[in-house]
Amino acid sequence: MKKVVLVTGASSGFGKFTALELIKKGYTVYGAARRVNKMQELNEAGGHSIAMDVTNDESVDEGIKQIIKEQGRIDVLVNNAGYGSYSFIETADLEQMKRMYDVNVWGLVRVTQHVLPYMRKEKKGKIINISSIAGKASLAFMGFYSSSKFAVESISDALRQEVGRFGIDVAIIEPGAFSTGFEDTVFNELKEVKVGEAYQPILDNFTPSFKKTYENAPTPEPVVKAIVSAIERKKPKTRYAVGMDAKMGVFMKSLLSDRIFDNMMLSQMNMK
Ligand SMILES: NC(=O)c1ccc[n+]([C@@H]2O[C@H](COP(=O)([O-])OP(=O)(O)OC[C@H]3O[C@@H](n4cnc5c(N)ncnc54)[C@H](OP(=O)(O)O)[C@@H]3O)[C@@H](O)[C@H]2O)c1
Repeated sequence: MKKVVLVTGASSGFGKFTALELIKKGYTVYGAARRVNKMQELNEAGGHSIAMDVTNDESVDEGIKQIIKEQGRIDVLVNNAGYGSYSFIETADLEQMKRMYDVNVWGLVRVTQHVLPYMRKEKKGKIINISSIAGKASLAFMGFYSSSKFAVESISDALRQEVGRFGIDVAIIEPGAFSTGFEDTVFNELKEVKVGEAYQPILDNFTPSFKKTYENAPTPEPVVKAIVSAIERKKPKTRYAVGMDAKMGVFMKSLLSDRIFDNMMLSQMNMK
């Protein structure tokens, strides 16, 4: 029987390429996002696109009910929808940060809550949560985004302990920088950010080094491969750091003292 997979954030980046790869591998794939017009390729490849805003309870409820009506179950949920909104802690617009939390944290929880009753009924399932290297190490100017991914990490760990008894497993993907729509959204969000005089020089130094990171960033295949591996392995790893920067980041964070790590990261991002 073909496994039924729901991928959120399937209109772009990791979600889109994961959905297309899973269709190629013979899964029944539902891709969910707000921009349905960006999921034409997914439909043409044999997948199903669903209009879903993960911040809206009714929208999530309708989407999940549609899949259950058409397929009877959801075997795998890939919680991928998310974006980066960066600010300094002192000057952040809290409403803007809350909007990001609504997607990265509450959106992930909302979709999970709607899917879990059906997975428990089947006594099996897999939930793959897309975190980030930012969920392992917090950086200046990215503190709120990092904290949303730290939340994804801790919620995923608790969830794994809670639902293992029902035959459901949880894996976390921790990508470093990859070339997707992520960078564009970061700069779009930045248009609304007022950092104030004291922080402006730090931001002026950060912007070119962030741009450079993404100019040199690899394409998403390794992340897609890690997600597919977590889906296909009987017992997936609990976390997959993907990309040299993510692997190095996790290693350095475990090795160095906080202050040495702080200095290293500030130098690397040209923010000292
Ligand atoms: N690229 C990186 O360097 C990187 C690194 C680490 C982690 N990540 C994480 O990877 C995940 C995917 O991002 P990406 O890099 O593939 O970026 P992307 O190309 O911008 O894709 C983001 C996806 O999230 C969806 N989304 C955003 N808000 C949504 C909402 N309210 N409801 C439903 N879907 C929503 C977008 O769809 P619509 O706008 O059409 O709704 C889009 O499909 C995110 O969780 C991100 O934090 C990315």
